[in-house]
Amino acid sequence: MREDLTRRGFLGVAGAAVVAGVTSEVAAATEGKEAPKGGPIKIIGLSCSPRPGKTTAAALKVCLDAAKTAGPNVETELVELAGLNIPVFDPAAPGSGDFDQVAAKLTDPKVAGIIVGTPVYFGSMSSLCKAFLDRCIALRKDNFALANKVAGVVAVGGMRNGGQELTIQTVQAALLAQEMILVGDGRPTAHRGATLWNQNDDISKDELGLATARNLGRRVAEVAARLVGTTG
Ligand SMILES: Cc1cc2nc3c(=O)[nH]c(=O)nc-3n(C[C@H](O)[C@H](O)[C@H](O)COP(=O)(O)O)c2cc1C
Repeated sequence: MREDLTRRGFLGVAGAAVVAGVTSEVAAATEGKEAPKGGPIKIIGLSCSPRPGKTTAAALKVCLDAAKTAGPNVETELVELAGLNIPVFDPAAPGSGDFDQVAAKLTDPKVAGIIVGTPVYFGSMSSLCKAFLDRCIALRKDNFALANKVAGVVAVGGMRNGGQELTIQTVQAALLAQEMILVGDGRPTAHRGATLWNQNDDISKDELGLATARNLGRRVAEVAARLVGTTG
């Protein structure tokens, strides 16, 4: 019994040492990659629609406008993948096209939040979105360069209920693997993220969807500001 307790005691101490080691390792790895404490923050909206300036981009603009209302220290930028070369991930094929230039924007320490927008394609994300998220494995290998940035997801479908929530969850799964901090649309809607309905390339009549977009943008900015300790 005594021997068992001693052994357990040893394991406890050893375990604590391992945890402490891992913690400081993680802190060292993320140092310099996160927004400086108390400073201004940037929220990026990343449109993964192959159609520039269409409904996914429009929904993200609504999110970003709402993010700005979180405070004077919040800057925003819309980044569109449309027209860029984001090759499907193939470990055997060299070259990453335009991925690196977008990745540099996202990993900028000032960026404290990222809102990923995708059209719903057959109940899931666009292939462009999947190609981009798969390529983000390079950022995971780069000491989790997106770790602790706040993330939200927007999905725009041609049907009111065409798979937006399922699509959001598939994107969220990839973002969780980057150690991002996921949030949904804030109250009063408060579910998985922004779910919009494209009616003839127009989202302006979708009052409920617009509310989820505003609540997501505001929530991402508020949580990001809180983490960075900025006044918002
Ligand atoms: C290949 C393809 C599959 C689609 N599948 C769905 C779907 O499953 N559910 C849905 O609601 N809309 C679906 N749509 C419609 C798009 O999601 C919708 O038009 C979206 O707003 C397009 O985004 P964009 O305006 O940024 O291009 C599909 C469109 C395409 C081209």
